[in-house]
Amino acid sequence: MSVLELKDVNAFYGNSHVLFDLDMVVEQNEVVTLLGRNGAGKTTTLRTITGTIPRREGSITYRGDEIIDESVDGISNAGIKLVPEERRVFPTLTVHENLQVAYDACSSPRPISDMYDVFPKLDELRQNKGRNLSGGEQQMLSVARALVQDPDVLLLDEPTEGLAPVIVSDLKEVLSEVVKEDVTVLLTEQNVEFALDLGERAYIIEKGSNAWEGTVEELREREDLLDEYLSVAAAE
Ligand SMILES: Nc1ncnc2c1ncn2[C@@H]1O[C@H](COP(=O)(O)OP(=O)(O)OP(=O)(O)O)[C@@H](O)[C@H]1O
Ligand SMILES: [Mg+2]
Repeated sequence: MSVLELKDVNAFYGNSHVLFDLDMVVEQNEVVTLLGRNGAGKTTTLRTITGTIPRREGSITYRGDEIIDESVDGISNAGIKLVPEERRVFPTLTVHENLQVAYDACSSPRPISDMYDVFPKLDELRQNKGRNLSGGEQQMLSVARALVQDPDVLLLDEPTEGLAPVIVSDLKEVLSEVVKEDVTVLLTEQNVEFALDLGERAYIIEKGSNAWEGTVEELREREDLLDEYLSVAAAE
């Protein structure tokens, strides 16, 4: 049984129809990347899975159970956690307090100390306020807040956006470790290189519809796809 299966998914913001019969499958322990240009519908796809979209139709099964009509809290409590693009770190709370809030909101969290093992940098910054963290540090904190809630499926929306290359590389390492701990990852990216390095399979969406799917090895050979559907060329 797949971890996540989207079938004929449509999504709407008011009268605006943005996802069109989208299909997608994510298997256990996979890292699947959702690629596409600005406005293609990547964030909307993640929101459709977490339920934070005004209207969605079709079928989304999570480990075989239909969740299209499930509440946002129900989906989160079932083990699907989103790290949003805008990170939403609490600016006036310290790193530790930010983690504590996530910990307290979860019925079966992991120890906060585990997060400091995974992100030693956050341990150093424990008492620093969210607003004083760099973009990379905020992203680490944002991922740590999701991980402390012991997710089964981790959804990451453009995790590398605005990050320095050295932080991107740290993040890649952390996510590779996370997958070994039985977490399944679905992420969106415009950083094709990151997606090719970390992911196993990829979907490209264009104007809210499926445009291509395949393995990262196949994608690596298809510069035409990168030209056609993405704004950047693949870097070797
Ligand atoms: N809150 C909203 N209300 C109305 N339309 C929206 C809303 N959010 C997104 N859209 C529209 O839905 C479409 C898909 O947007 P979405 O944010 O999912 O794209 P994306 O692939 O994540 O883009 P980006 O790479 O810029 O993050 C776009 O046409 C966008 O304008
Ligand atoms: Mg987006």
